[in-house]
Amino acid sequence: MCGIVGMIHAESVMTALVPALRRLEYRGYDSAGIALLDQNQLTRHRVLGVLDQLTGDMPKDWDAKTGMGHTRWATHGEPSVRNAHPHFSHRVAIVHNGIVDNFQTLKTDLLNKGYAFASDTDTEVIAHLIDLHMTQGHDPVSAFSVAIQQLEGNFAIACMISHWQDALLVARRGTPPLLVGKGPMGYSIASDALGLVDVSDHLAYLEGDSWAIVTQDSAKVYDFSGERKPLNWQKQMLHHQSCNQGDYAHFMRKEMDEQPDVIARLLSQPTPTLAQLYPDLNHVSLLGCGTSFYAAWIGKYVLEQRYGVTLELASEFSYRHAIMSPGVTLALSQSGETADTLKAVAYAKNQGQKLISLVNAPYSSLARCSDHVLDMQAGPEIGVASTKAFTAQLWLLFALAGITPDRAQHLPQSMRQALQLAPDIRRWATALADESNMLYLGRGVSYPVALEGALKMKELSYIHAEGLAAGELKHGSLALVDQTIPIIFLAPHDAIFDKTLGNIHEIIARKGRLHVITDQAGAEKMPAVGLTQCLILPDAPDPIFNPFIQTMALQLLAYYTALERGCSIDKPRNLAKSVTVE
Ligand code: G6P
Repeated sequence: MCGIVGMIHAESVMTALVPALRRLEYRGYDSAGIALLDQNQLTRHRVLGVLDQLTGDMPKDWDAKTGMGHTRWATHGEPSVRNAHPHFSHRVAIVHNGIVDNFQTLKTDLLNKGYAFASDTDTEVIAHLIDLHMTQGHDPVSAFSVAIQQLEGNFAIACMISHWQDALLVARRGTPPLLVGKGPMGYSIASDALGLVDVSDHLAYLEGDSWAIVTQDSAKVYDFSGERKPLNWQKQMLHHQSCNQGDYAHFMRKEMDEQPDVIARLLSQPTPTLAQLYPDLNHVSLLGCGTSFYAAWIGKYVLEQRYGVTLELASEFSYRHAIMSPGVTLALSQSGETADTLKAVAYAKNQGQKLISLVNAPYSSLARCSDHVLDMQAGPEIGVASTKAFTAQLWLLFALAGITPDRAQHLPQSMRQALQLAPDIRRWATALADESNMLYLGRGVSYPVALEGALKMKELSYIHAEGLAAGELKHGSLALVDQTIPIIFLAPHDAIFDKTLGNIHEIIARKGRLHVITDQAGAEKMPAVGLTQCLILPDAPDPIFNPFIQTMALQLLAYYTALERGCSIDKPRNLAKSVTVE
């Protein structure tokens, strides 16, 4: 999703602006641009494609102390230079994240008033609207505050105005986050705390429906009725090192390797159980999107031993007008900024639900509206495809369900051993890299693990991969099984192993291309003929933790398949890390 940074510093912002934009690259983007305000003149430079192109072509002598930058993930208008931000209207420059729902009405009005549009974006209306109000006699601040109140939808914007003062005007309505940072050089703004690493030692989130005037030494915040609001400053916890790739070829590979340590860290700290937080609780609702949703699904298997559990895809939930069972909602989100999840959470709160969030960003929008926040403490996750946040979410769910750390004591070690199977899994990946379709099968809790594995394969390698409940094969999907389609089958030696084995025989009888992922006990009972490949995972300390171990193998398989196919691993095409629009 789009990224915004802006700075007003005591010295040239050029050396800080582009590195800050680079830190937002992970969110996913298709074009980028910066605008500078220097001696009352606005200049800009925009490119289609990656930031390297931006820096390659950029004039070297720019010396502005006020500037802003943007990485765009196209919503309105194709990815192109003309649609890249910043957008200008005479004295006004705008960058924007989110969607202006009523842009068409505003655009028609502005066209009638003689404004010419240079892009297909909804963003450009904001620039013209502010300019219109200034031509009608408003000073820049009042033009800005009047204009933003005419915009419908969810958005974060930053604005510079020439022939006025060195300042950034910023606004936030609804979900897209916007932060202000302060540091030795001055004030900065960004849509993501990572954009403020190195330039700010303290940061504060703007609340929804508020705006601010930011100068080199102050940030004055107002709500939409014009009332002054305080900023809640927190120490910047992210540092340059925590965002580094180290010797790894990709952030994702590094983040996969970090998982045993993330789990070890969580195991060493107390996590409250649901029974401690809500002793009379009967029902739990789980909400999330993408990988967070699959983590929730796996968590359901442990939570439902104790509570009634409802599992909901956040992106589908808000508009169904479902009556929720009274109880607690657990919202899972790595970023804590996923618009679909925030929307669903707002609905749940309206239904009187208590809200516990599982986030990797403890100051995120989701965290700030929760009754309890469980911090994954996984460190920044830069690869778009979620890995360490997923396993951290799993542990937090298990802990909430009452699974004690002593049961998981050896889990980090088992995960490390599973990661050491990388050379074997790479051989599978090499053989599978030219496929167009794959099936991922599992029974019981291995089913949502298979779904997550298939999602990883899709995200990273662009191979169509479908996760299926193995028991459902005979109800339809068995028709797909032949000698061509590879089947990745999760078959741990668990309580339902005999059933799983039955499904394996169904596939063998149809000469399917079976790639079985099992453990030592499972491997000993596998049919002697009929398997194309068999991978033996280390034993989990307890079968309940199988999903953690299986996930290591499935992440590696997706990673190496994508590598083999030459895909953009950390930034898969069309995807964004933090999806701040519905
Ligand atoms: C995007 C990302 C996924 C992620 C999902 C939910 O689609 O590409 O990797 O799982 O959002 O993100 P969240 O931050 O809410 O966990």
